[in-house]
Amino acid sequence: MADCVNHAHHNIGAPIGLRRMRQNQHVRDLAREFWLSPKQFIQPLFVVDGIKEREVVPGLDGTYRDTPDSLLKQIESDLKNGVSKFLLFGVPAEKREDNFNYDFVTQQIQAIKKRFGHDVWLTMDVCLCSNTSYGHCGLINDEGDHILNEESSQELARQAVEYAQAGVDSVAPSDMMDGRVGLIRESLAKAKLDRTVLMSYAAKFRSQFYGPFRVAADCAPKSGNRVQLNDRATYQLDAARYQDALACAERDDMEGADILMVKPGTPYLDIIARLSAAIPKPWAVYQVSGECAGINLAAREGLINRKAAYVELWTGFKRAGADIIISYGARDAAQWLAELQG
Ligand code: PBG
Repeated sequence: MADCVNHAHHNIGAPIGLRRMRQNQHVRDLAREFWLSPKQFIQPLFVVDGIKEREVVPGLDGTYRDTPDSLLKQIESDLKNGVSKFLLFGVPAEKREDNFNYDFVTQQIQAIKKRFGHDVWLTMDVCLCSNTSYGHCGLINDEGDHILNEESSQELARQAVEYAQAGVDSVAPSDMMDGRVGLIRESLAKAKLDRTVLMSYAAKFRSQFYGPFRVAADCAPKSGNRVQLNDRATYQLDAARYQDALACAERDDMEGADILMVKPGTPYLDIIARLSAAIPKPWAVYQVSGECAGINLAAREGLINRKAAYVELWTGFKRAGADIIISYGARDAAQWLAELQG
């Protein structure tokens, strides 16, 4: 049928008029297939033990390594601007190889919840890379050539339960150990914490784009002494393996994740599209530190328009199938979307 219609146009000598629905803002608004809402954005936050004043994260203007005090002020001002959902990273002062202590972080969770209660939805990153002296996301074996799966998962589950007991709404394991989602879910259930939302970094790729984050969270993997692994290749995904991403996502789904995530965002739009079509759960995308810093730095050089670049990339995430967007630009999303969407 479509063919006949097109032929008819050709017969009367007029081109197929696709520009008619682009001619002004009214028809462009009517023709849009979706709108992004600031309600589906999550703002990352860092809270750092042992610093006197907050520090800007390199490349991420407007994102800070906060002190406990400045963190509360930041959340207060975000709430005034309509930002209510946060992903918090805790950075302890002391690095260790065992006997990890999560008191600094649990105190911050309690302080946030005491002050803001249900006005804030708080998800807490669960990982060991900011805790370990060698910057890996799990515990390393004596030979220094392998991140131990079972021991690491047990420790992560202990951490998740401590955070949940301190009052977070959600825990978000970012370590990529096998089976940690199931173990965390089971440990939460044993502790009678059946309302904690589990957001899994399900398809987390090994990436160059985590650079600024590793400064912010003081968590770059380090070889040296007995530690032989200097990158995360043995636990994070390879960019050339969609099938591994699918297997991880299916497993985390079965093990009880409530929200699944693809990370980073921009280089993995196809992964978002395929996974969100395959697994009917809310999908998040993490526009990571290096992606955001890339935009910011190009904008600083006057090469691109920062706001418009963010909105274009966010639109791409949504079109690919993401429901939730985690971005260092989340804080500005309401204003930028109101200005630039339509
Ligand atoms: C730690 C973690 C990382 C990020 C979130 N959690 C870095 C890494 O895996 O090295 C990256 C976030 C970002 O770059 O914004 N497991």
